[in-house]
Amino acid sequence: MVSLKADMSPLHPDRNLALELVRATEAAAIRSVPFIGRGQKELADGAAVDAMRAFLQTVDFAGVVVIGEGEKDNAPMLYNGEQVGTGDGPQCDIAVDPIDGTTLTAEGRNNALSVLAVSDRGSMLDASSVFYMDKLVTGPAGVGVVDIRLPIGENIRLLSKAIGKPVDEIVVSVLNRPRHARIIEEIREAGAGTRLMSDGDVAGGINAARHNARTDMCVGVGGSPEGIVTACAIKALGGHIQGRLWPRDDDERQRGIDAGLRVGDDEVYEADDLVKGDNTIFVATGVTNGELVAGVRREGDYIYTESVVLRGRSGTLRRISSEHLTSKWL
Ligand code: FBP
Repeated sequence: MVSLKADMSPLHPDRNLALELVRATEAAAIRSVPFIGRGQKELADGAAVDAMRAFLQTVDFAGVVVIGEGEKDNAPMLYNGEQVGTGDGPQCDIAVDPIDGTTLTAEGRNNALSVLAVSDRGSMLDASSVFYMDKLVTGPAGVGVVDIRLPIGENIRLLSKAIGKPVDEIVVSVLNRPRHARIIEEIREAGAGTRLMSDGDVAGGINAARHNARTDMCVGVGGSPEGIVTACAIKALGGHIQGRLWPRDDDERQRGIDAGLRVGDDEVYEADDLVKGDNTIFVATGVTNGELVAGVRREGDYIYTESVVLRGRSGTLRRISSEHLTSKWL
């Protein structure tokens, strides 16, 4: 007979929390519908933020926003330190990204997600004083094998060996930015392929860590908040994630150090430094179509959403397809 571990008891309250939280990303995705492909990224983000916040207030938990809407998205709500939830239930840290891929949304391009992640209170790294983080994400085969301090070619060879896949079949995703010109060259020189992303490295990281995914590794510099959110998902996938803060100038480096962060090429944040323990919940709803989930779609009387819920404790990824009566949202 299969017995459940103590922390997987059917009565464990966090299991319900995971399913409650998905309502908030669904709401954010639904409210972004009028703005998809309309060239108005700030309006899209604002609508998603309002909807996510309103739904979070109805969920029984005591959340403190550790990763909120920052300077980039110019949104006055869901700021760092804000308390969300009813105040009853588990004490949690929460990271929100009502739309990861605001430009993708405004342009109607693939891979925009509404995302949030929750973990035990005090367990998430507050990296908000340094905007960017260099990241390395792989699936479980990369754990204890790849290392962000190694040259990318070396990591590709190590991963290729660990998963038993020739180097020329390895695909590495990376944000298509001038700062990545050199790493893109190195990936190709090593014999691997690249998947250049225009935005959205949360989806990029998760896709690289999933089994049977089309990419094997996600590398490069993206938002620090996105790094923490991604780490919460990677815990549930058993994958590898490392991050290194990437200050844009000396002032930002100093702000990071003043905030108690470790900054430098050898200052690597391992998965457990990004978020401690495995009591993580990650939920995402598709805003536009992507490999992970389909985008929100309105067709007459119904709005269709697709979401994933990942729980670190149980190591599960669940898909939730919902049909919402359009009339309830008008
Ligand atoms: P936004 O939705 O906040 O615009 O973020 C999109 C994104 O592509 C993230 O996924 C990524 O981490 C970050 O921006 C990269 O930043 P930049 O566009 O400055 O290179």
